[in-house]
Amino acid sequence: MRNQYFCTKITELFNIKHPILCGGLMWLGNAEYAAAAVNSGGMGFITAKTFPDPAEFKDELSKAWNLTSGQPFGVNLYQSMRPEENEVLNGHLKIALDSGVRHFETAGLPPTDFLPLLKEANSIVLHKVSTVRHAVSAARKLDIDAVTIVGAECGGHPGLELVSSLVQAVVGPEQIEIPVVIGGGIGHGRQIAAVLGMGAEAVLVGTRVLVAEEVWSHPEVKKQVVNAGAADSTLVMASFRNTSRVMINEYALAVQKLEDEGIEDFEQYWDYVKGSNAFDAYKSGDWNKALLSMGQAAAFANTIVPMEEIFDTLIDEAAAAIERISSLTQ
Ligand SMILES: Cc1cc2nc3c(=O)[nH]c(=O)nc-3n(C[C@H](O)[C@H](O)[C@H](O)COP(=O)(O)O)c2cc1C
Repeated sequence: MRNQYFCTKITELFNIKHPILCGGLMWLGNAEYAAAAVNSGGMGFITAKTFPDPAEFKDELSKAWNLTSGQPFGVNLYQSMRPEENEVLNGHLKIALDSGVRHFETAGLPPTDFLPLLKEANSIVLHKVSTVRHAVSAARKLDIDAVTIVGAECGGHPGLELVSSLVQAVVGPEQIEIPVVIGGGIGHGRQIAAVLGMGAEAVLVGTRVLVAEEVWSHPEVKKQVVNAGAADSTLVMASFRNTSRVMINEYALAVQKLEDEGIEDFEQYWDYVKGSNAFDAYKSGDWNKALLSMGQAAAFANTIVPMEEIFDTLIDEAAAAIERISSLTQ
């Protein structure tokens, strides 16, 4: 692991070496993933919804504690627009706290209902949003410790306004007093140097680490990410105000066709968009038969290597970028 190169409010808040956070990944964000991020000097979040069975979730947390040899890791609590899908999170939150987890990434709806319990236990809460407007409001109204703003380039949910990370990384920290993390399209160390220069305190990555060896998806799916470039993702479901950035494949194109035809009946989309498709595709390798979240940072995910190597590369690249900037100044 590289020596600490950057010291920021987020490295201090999380007590980590590198200002690199690995965000929740539905189906893929398990103990191995989160622990790999922690053992590489950053922070990783186990995705609570990936383990709907409480006993299974508890086991996953125990596994992560073993894999990190007791170093803290995080849990992602993503709340979707459909309340029935979020019910499981209330129990999971207590399970996580009981097991000793104190680092949380919240996303989707504001974590208003979770905050009393989280804060009573002295947790660090990082809330993720896709617009500076929402980040300003969250920082003002919610008892959170930091806020992540993801730009239009991100895999998963880029929101509706689709402003780039390059713009949000400046506007966000200017307007927000708590530490700001920038995500969306980040996959090269030069970008880390750049967004820290713009005022961010850390970066959040998802797509860049889809090719980490510790991520369990089928080699055929990883091969698609390796081969994908900056333009190989696309946006779907904007017509339902639930925009997702996903890999261009058969199902993504089928969904776009329905949207282009103006079809509003959700039933007609269901076979393409249901979440279990992604799990099946990660398992079988049949990457065409699901909406697979992937962002423009696929451009940087070019080899399957251990997470630690990805982190080392990012830090080396960032350090080289800082040197270049220094060499350009008088
Ligand atoms: C495959 C995949 C699954 C994701 N699942 C979730 C999730 O369950 N919850 C969540 O809050 N974010 C999820 N995200 C978003 C990431 O946590 C992170 O915000 C995003 O990947 C950052 O942008 P990037 O993909 O450009 O690095 C997912 C992203 C990907 C690529």
